Amino acid sequence: MRHFLTLADFSKDELLEMIDLAIKIKKQTKAKEFVPYLEKQTLGMIFEKSSTRTRVSFEVGIYQLGGVGLFLSSNDLQLGRGEPLKDTARVVSSMVDMVMIRTFEHSKLEEFAAYSKVPVINGLTDSYHPVQLMTDYLTMIEFNKADNTVVAYVGDGNNMTHSWLYLAAKLGFELRVATPVGYECDAEIVKRALEMAKESGAKITFSNDPKEAVKGADVVTTDTWVSMGQEAEKEKRIKDFAGFMVDSELMSLAKDDAIFLHCLPAYRGYEVSEEVFEKHADVIFTEAENRLHAQKGIMVWLDSKRGE
Ligand code: CP
Ligand code: NVA
Repeated sequence: MRHFLTLADFSKDELLEMIDLAIKIKKQTKAKEFVPYLEKQTLGMIFEKSSTRTRVSFEVGIYQLGGVGLFLSSNDLQLGRGEPLKDTARVVSSMVDMVMIRTFEHSKLEEFAAYSKVPVINGLTDSYHPVQLMTDYLTMIEFNKADNTVVAYVGDGNNMTHSWLYLAAKLGFELRVATPVGYECDAEIVKRALEMAKESGAKITFSNDPKEAVKGADVVTTDTWVSMGQEAEKEKRIKDFAGFMVDSELMSLAKDDAIFLHCLPAYRGYEVSEEVFEKHADVIFTEAENRLHAQKGIMVWLDSKRGE
């Protein structure tokens, strides 16, 4: 049995197998051909943080695969009243076929997985957002940005950035990360990514200069400056991130046909200008829809590994 906790847990071939499945199932879904790959299976979806895309895409995804999803908010679960996570893991995983969790510390996800009898999927932790990065890669393929690509990430060194590091390191593309001073990526995660990059040949560089990162890039991306759980730091962060908005001037340094990705939700006037956002809305909302398709690929792949 395999869990989907970070992209570092998979080989390049395994990640590409999941993407291939996603592409195949997306085609079928678009043709209204709903193949019951996960017939009568149940997906428990535990949320300790808010969500629009993750919730809708997993719930609709499991349904279209022939199963059913259970939305389990920590506000309603006994978990929210102090029932230990390891007990919740043993109870929930005795009744469902797969679990998706969105939580705070990554260690909580690992603890849940250690006690789970069924595959566990990371639906975002403070450290990683791997299902979003599988989605972003699927979107890059669809917009012909998957070969010899240079990706520029401008903004906070957060869960999205960490998953970009692992995606680049596994698949072997060039990633340039530009963060404000004091908002760099986690040092341990960087070390691990650079170690993996040696194997794939990925070129990963870090700076505090958005212009240097974006120059000649094929894909430009960013994320909110204030992630879930950081609301108290909002004012300070907005000041510290001055000069890091992806606006038309910054985008003009990228290749003429560069695309802009955003995992959403987007805060216009902060990490991205209204103009850049609307100019790239087609890509951004294809990316959002692709959560549905990428995660079907992941769920079907995990199901195929049971008993191994
Ligand atoms: N991108 C993303 O994970 O969106 P939600 O927070 O709405 O799930
Ligand atoms: N970094 C953001 C991503 C939201 C999908 C957060 O953790 O809130």
